[in-house]
Amino acid sequence: MNNTVKIVEVGPRDGLQNEAQPIDSAHKIALVNALSDAGLQVVEAGSFVNPKWVPQMAGSEAVFEGIARKAGVSYAALTPNLKGYERAIAVGASEVAIFAAASEAFSQKNINCSISESIERFAPIMDAARAAEIPVRGYVSCIAGCPYEGDIQPAKVAEVAKQLYDAGCYEISLGDTIGTGTPASIEAVITACAAVVPIEKLALHAHDTYGQALANIYRAIQLGVRVFDSSVAGLGGCPYAKGASGNVATEDLVYMLNGLGLDHGVDLHKLAQAGRDICAVLGRDSQSKVARALAAK
Ligand code: HMG
Ligand code: MG
Repeated sequence: MNNTVKIVEVGPRDGLQNEAQPIDSAHKIALVNALSDAGLQVVEAGSFVNPKWVPQMAGSEAVFEGIARKAGVSYAALTPNLKGYERAIAVGASEVAIFAAASEAFSQKNINCSISESIERFAPIMDAARAAEIPVRGYVSCIAGCPYEGDIQPAKVAEVAKQLYDAGCYEISLGDTIGTGTPASIEAVITACAAVVPIEKLALHAHDTYGQALANIYRAIQLGVRVFDSSVAGLGGCPYAKGASGNVATEDLVYMLNGLGLDHGVDLHKLAQAGRDICAVLGRDSQSKVARALAAK
């Protein structure tokens, strides 16, 4: 069994994109720097989408330009189209992520096109990234349920995951966007996807809306998945999935991995401090139970 887990920290992007209050770039930069100092190897630092759709991410250029880059850390950017890709590369994104959905309705609401149109729209990104040797990650949203369509079939998730993998994505992140998955439904999705994409290329991106994220991650670990997305302090939600709460808190994930004896390279105390600092900026409590327990000690 492989004992090493890769954590993809998505707090600065997935966590902050939903914040209505403006957040200074300086605070976002401090957050990204604190996360890399805590040992995170992949930090999704922002997105290059239409700023009218997600105003909070409009300043992502300033974030990428302001961070203190640490050797060995990949600073990732979410890019919906070639324009977004070019903006991300211009400010030195180490890798980019494209994002599709397993639900037609969610695809329309989130990126204004059908699933098949989105795959076509990603092709120029894949070509440009291949030429520039920029790794591309692929997300599939709504793997266990859609806010507009309800249940989503694992076969549909696997079909989209395979399309992204065949297009050249080095890793496929399976997004439980509204957190409705349970260990049973997540197992069904992972099993379907692992039949068409090697399991070591699959990641789980679990939102914790229904409190199932850690249980789902544990099931995924048992099935052989070793890449997990998480958000410091459990920040976030999705602007196109009303009521969705943040990703599993990175602190909670790290605590569980420590207990399981799995390696991840993250310093829990530095991470918890990064979480406290961004929560102070936002004026809200951490969603991480581990962070709250550590603070109460
Ligand atoms: P559209 O309106 O169909 O785009 O949006 P368009 O190509 O028709 O262009 C319209 C205008 O947008 C034009 O400007 C373009 O230049 C501009 P105008 O001529 O009107 O002045 N534009 C851009 N500007 C800056 N950067 C760009 C860009 N692209 C176009 N990249 C589009 C299509 C995909 C762009 C839009 O729908 C969009 O930005 N969607 C992003 C929504 C989003 O960010 N959602 C949240 C992230 S996904 C997520 O959270 C899920 C995930 O976490 C996994 C999970 O949890 O499941 C990843
Ligand atoms: Mg998400």
